[in-house]
Amino acid sequence: MFSSSFKEPLRVVVSGAAGQISYSGLLSKLLNGDCFGRDTPIELRLLEIPPAVRACEGVVKELHDCAFPLLKDIKITTEADEAFDGVDYAFLVGAFPRKKGMERSDLLQRNKDIFVKQGKSLNRFGKETTKVVVVGNPANTNALICSEYAHSLPKKNFSCMSRLDHNRTISQVAKHTGATHVKNCCIFGNHSPTMVPVVEPATLETKEGLTVAADCLLTSVSKEMITDTVRQRGSEIIAFRGLSSALSAAKAAVDHVKDWASGTQPGEFVSMGVCSDGSYGVPEGLFSSYPVVCKGGEWSIVHGLGLSEAQKEAIEISAKELLKEAEMVL
Ligand code: NAD
Ligand code: LMR
Repeated sequence: MFSSSFKEPLRVVVSGAAGQISYSGLLSKLLNGDCFGRDTPIELRLLEIPPAVRACEGVVKELHDCAFPLLKDIKITTEADEAFDGVDYAFLVGAFPRKKGMERSDLLQRNKDIFVKQGKSLNRFGKETTKVVVVGNPANTNALICSEYAHSLPKKNFSCMSRLDHNRTISQVAKHTGATHVKNCCIFGNHSPTMVPVVEPATLETKEGLTVAADCLLTSVSKEMITDTVRQRGSEIIAFRGLSSALSAAKAAVDHVKDWASGTQPGEFVSMGVCSDGSYGVPEGLFSSYPVVCKGGEWSIVHGLGLSEAQKEAIEISAKELLKEAEMVL
């Protein structure tokens, strides 16, 4: 099935593989080559809990039925140690999702144990090069917990997903300006309603093919509307679907890891939740969303973006929330 032009296979763990995000595109996009390229076979390790194993077996049957040429091997396991043995990339999606009326902080204690256990397992069975993205909420603090317990792996190997918030911001800017392409918006802070979407550095292409600064076309009212929409979008989706976002979350997880693994476009930055180096006033060690560029499999924070006093204060509020979450769980 594999031609000699294929690269070495990557071992990829997806936890929560029977859940909505995995089913609504994460697994199929991975096996379609959307994340690691059409020349990279994948050995999938699907980590689930015992009650979901049967459903996961059904998902595996469907993945076989898709006849993806990149699917080299697939295993379901309920043992984190087995899943993480020699893992190259881990998508940590498995967690209890937010339901109607719940805030992300309600999930803290509930999901903490999962990330302690998986961190310990990654510590023993992960590699120096293993890259981890935490999607399961509260994603920032789960990433912090996981990285703390996986102390033998470098902190820079851990990240959490704010790409969905980033993509939502891009889409809202396009909607408010009629642009065909928008780049260089970014998100600071927690993946929660305190997050800080920043649109001032963005550039866009108009229908006429002109490249302009987004700030020229956005009023302060439209900027406020964009911020409110992005901050509340997760709740809005839950109110409409009765379930949290899945299709857009799957797409965002693939965007996140694709850019991390193969690099961001020249002149473009994206948003990733990463371990703070103290930049933009977020205490060192917390996992906060930042504008980043990626090259050679490494991310680096974009420094020196001009922010208003109001934006700096908003980032401080979000950082305080992250600190409070960290104090609650560690
Ligand atoms: P879901 O309930 O459909 O699926 C979760 C899956 O995780 C289930 O199959 C469950 O059996 C499994 N699971 C639970 N505990 C596990 C464990 N210890 N190990 C392995 N698997 C385990 O939920 P979903 O809609 O797929 O969402 C998953 C998570 O992603 C939720 O926490 C949700 O809030 C979060 N989420 C984050 C973002 C983001 O932008 N960061 C966006 C959307 C959803
Ligand atoms: C989202 O942003 O859609 C997810 O984090 C789900 C949620 O709980 O808001």
